Amino acid sequence: MATITNTRDDTRFDCEAGDTVLRAALRAGVGMPYSCNTGSCGNCRFDLVEGTVSHLRDDPPGLSEKDRARNRWLGCQAVPNGDCAVKFRAMEEYVPIVTPERRTAELVSVDKITRDISDFAFHMDGAGDFRPGQYALLTVPGVEGARAYSMSNLPGDTWNFMIKHAPGGAATDWLFNAAPGATLEIDGPFGTAFLREESDRDIVLLAGGSGLSPMVSIALGAVAAGLDKGRRIHLFYGGRETKDLCTPDILGAAKDKVGFTAALSAPEGGADWQGPTGLVHEVARNKMGEALKGCDIYFAGPAVMSSAVQQMAHAAGVPMDRLFFDEFY
Ligand SMILES: Cc1cc2nc3c(=O)[nH]c(=O)nc-3n(C[C@H](O)[C@H](O)[C@H](O)COP(=O)(O)OP(=O)(O)OC[C@H]3O[C@@H](n4cnc5c(N)ncnc54)[C@H](O)[C@@H]3O)c2cc1C
Ligand code: FES
Repeated sequence: MATITNTRDDTRFDCEAGDTVLRAALRAGVGMPYSCNTGSCGNCRFDLVEGTVSHLRDDPPGLSEKDRARNRWLGCQAVPNGDCAVKFRAMEEYVPIVTPERRTAELVSVDKITRDISDFAFHMDGAGDFRPGQYALLTVPGVEGARAYSMSNLPGDTWNFMIKHAPGGAATDWLFNAAPGATLEIDGPFGTAFLREESDRDIVLLAGGSGLSPMVSIALGAVAAGLDKGRRIHLFYGGRETKDLCTPDILGAAKDKVGFTAALSAPEGGADWQGPTGLVHEVARNKMGEALKGCDIYFAGPAVMSSAVQQMAHAAGVPMDRLFFDEFY
């Protein structure tokens, strides 16, 4: 166990052996800024003032040469080698509502959704709370570094994840070949792009490919909280070809309470596709028109989609504080 001191506000927190500075901070209720938790975004950078740390990932994309020269490290990758003094600006919005925990989980079922997306259900060792829209870190046996996957269901002792098979991907190759009974470690929940129940605005959910998982969870959470009574909830899902299509059945019993539009960006020649064609955010903008300005917009998908949605929202006059997302890498 190491003690970490944040010299910016003189707070202290403990870090268990093998844990990272970021995850230890969040477990202790300290609002250290972050997003991806896997070394890519750079949001969790801190200054190392005293002591030494080691990075889990040798060359994380979220850290530049300039950062290294300034003795800056990534909170999600840095494991302290002993007591340390660090410096970062803690922020209230990152204080976790549910304290993340590491648990063993057992794969109980895998259900195919599209040609390359399946829903994986894991039974958790100890019931686990989370907010719809959050994600967890899965440590896959034999794969270096945990991967982030967003939950697709509601909290309980089973956490589901809709996962897209990345061609040649280390973690997804393992997952798509795993059989029920396989076990792994799941750490979570993490992420700040969760359902805001207190808002009274209509809800637009934009899912690009692998971003389906958190959008389904938010739709289910909104219906479970009765938000469909006074607000419209609409899920837009974007795929490329007809093989990427899914149906509103992914929303289970909530499907009659949530609007659903599937769009294809490049339907294959000869396909009998009658639905909208184009990128999912463009389709949403056309369908919603001026009403989009008054909505809370949640979105998830590849990084390229994330920046396109932000540009579209800006052009449509949607205030930035109505956008909720975690970058996928
Ligand atoms: C917040 C968040 C939520 C996500 N939610 C989903 C989801 O719900 N469904 C879904 O299908 N995908 C999701 N992803 C993407 C997912 O985490 C993986 O990137 C994807 O499944 C590819 O993993 P792979 O191991 O199969 O592919 P690979 O090509 O083997 O690995 C690629 C990913 O792993 C990361 N990586 C590589 N080495 C390491 C390492 N040593 N330590 C840590 N990370 C490493 C890379 O940065 C890259 O993101 C999410 C990503 C983020 C950041
Ligand atoms: S690099 Fe650490 S949270 Fe993204």
